Amino acid sequence: MTLDSKEQRRILGKFATGVTVASTKIGDETWGMTANAVTSLSLEPPLVILCIQKEGQSRAKFEEGGCFALNILSVDQQEISDRFAFKGPKDFSGLDTTTAKTGAPILKDALGWVDCQLKEILPGGDHDIFVGEIVAGGAPEEGSPLLYFSGKYAKLPT
Ligand SMILES: Cc1cc2nc3c(=O)[nH]c(=O)nc-3n(C[C@H](O)[C@H](O)[C@H](O)COP(=O)(O)O)c2cc1C
Repeated sequence: MTLDSKEQRRILGKFATGVTVASTKIGDETWGMTANAVTSLSLEPPLVILCIQKEGQSRAKFEEGGCFALNILSVDQQEISDRFAFKGPKDFSGLDTTTAKTGAPILKDALGWVDCQLKEILPGGDHDIFVGEIVAGGAPEEGSPLLYFSGKYAKLPT
């Protein structure tokens, strides 16, 4: 049985996720992309993966940057998610950011973040799988996540 892509999206959309803004730095330029196709891959060595669609501008930016940070968004950061998901500038101007080791922008109010060196790019159909080795990270104790479920933003019940 083959599933059409709409049905695949609908089914896998039931798998609730958090939302990240992946960031990178290419020379003086910063670049961000909203992403939920991310996961912790390995503890030893510490690896994460970020899946990026092949079409679009982001793939080349993240390859050229050679590094990426994953900024895990809090429930108050939906606007930032939209900014990096829809058409428009993808730099971090006007946002409160810092850097750790690689220079990829880290959102000051992120719920958590990891800063990674790009180790490998693996093929994955119409996406590529960016494997990053974590070189720094952090998360404050408090905060609540922005969630994505069935194609919509969601939040934990309070
Ligand atoms: C909640 C959410 C999660 C997303 N996750 C991903 C993802 O994991 N990988 C991806 O390539 N695009 C993802 N997107 C879409 C990108 O954020 C969007 O296409 C972005 O504008 C990419 O820019 P580009 O097309 O210029 O590369 C997601 C969008 C949303 C709203």
